Amino acid sequence: MARIIAIANQKGGVGKTTTAINLSACLAEMNKKVLAIDIDPQGNTSSGLGIDKNKLKNTIYQMIIGECSLADCRLRTSIKDLDILPSNVNLAGAEIELIGVKDREYILKKHIETVRDDYDFIIIDCPPSLNSLTVNAMTTADTVLVPIQCEFYALEGLTQLIHTINLVKQRLNPKLELEGVVFTMYDARTNLSLQVVENVKSNLKQNIYKTIIPRNVRLAEAPSHGIPINIYDPKSAGAEGYRQLAQEVIEKEEADLYDRNDKSKAEKKKFFKKK
Ligand SMILES: Nc1ncnc2c1ncn2[C@@H]1O[C@H](COP(=O)(O)OP(=O)(O)O)[C@@H](O)[C@H]1O
Ligand SMILES: [Mg+2]
Repeated sequence: MARIIAIANQKGGVGKTTTAINLSACLAEMNKKVLAIDIDPQGNTSSGLGIDKNKLKNTIYQMIIGECSLADCRLRTSIKDLDILPSNVNLAGAEIELIGVKDREYILKKHIETVRDDYDFIIIDCPPSLNSLTVNAMTTADTVLVPIQCEFYALEGLTQLIHTINLVKQRLNPKLELEGVVFTMYDARTNLSLQVVENVKSNLKQNIYKTIIPRNVRLAEAPSHGIPINIYDPKSAGAEGYRQLAQEVIEKEEADLYDRNDKSKAEKKKFFKKK
C-alpha cells in the first residue's frame, strides 16, 4: 500500500514542483512504483514530466468534478514505473465548482483509495495556497513534506502551514503527520544559505531531512525538456540531491513501519527489495 506524501508550502517558488517531479522520478529509478498527482492548476509537474497538458481531454479537474474516472485521466509518463494524474489551468475552476458539494474535502481521497495498492509512493504537488485543493491533498496524504527555500524569509508562513496541517489532522485526517522539511536551493557560496539552515534547525522541532538540495541550474533547465533531473543530467548535483532525498524518504517509511510495531511488514519490504 502506497505511502502518500503531499508536498506543500503556501509560498510559491520554494521548490515544491521541482521536488515533486524529481523525488517521484528518483523513487521510480529505485524500482518503486510511483504515482505523481498534480493538483496545482499551473500544471508544472505535468509539463515537467513531459505531458502536453493543454491537449488533454481528461485531467484531474474532470476527475474532481465527477466528469471522468481516475483511469480516464491517469497517464503513463516516459519514465518506467511513474504514472501521473495531470492538471492544467482548468483546475483553477474547481475551487468554485466544489462550493456546497457534500464531502468535498474527501473527493481526491475517494479516488486515490481505489489505486493505493498499485503503488509504493504517491506524491502530490500542491498549489501555492491553503485552499480546498490543498485540503484535499492533505486529507488524502499520510504525511506532508515541506520544502523550504534557503532565503531570508524562509520561516515566514511556516507557523500558518503547520497550523493548517494540525487543523486537517484534528478535523479531517487524524493520521496525518509532518513528513519533515527539506531545504532547497542551497547555495554553498553564500553565508545566507548556511544561516537559514542553522536558524530553521534551531527554531523547528520537526523532522528535518539531512539531504539539502543545492541550487543547481540543471534543475531549472530540466522541465523545459519535459524530463526529470536524473535523466536530464544524471551526474549533476541536483540529481545527486534528489536521489539522496528519495533514499531518505524510503528509509523514513521503513522506520515508520518499525515504529508501528509492524516489523514483519518492514522486513517483508526489505526482503522484496533484495530480490
Ligand atoms: N534547487 C534548485 N536549483 C535551481 N533552481 C531551482 C531549484 N529548485 C527550484 N528551482 C527553480 O525555481 C523556480 C521555482 O521552483 P518550483 O519548484 O516551481 O517552486 P514551487 O512549486 O514551490 O512554486 C523554478 O523556476 C525552478 O526551476
Ligand atoms: Mg509549483
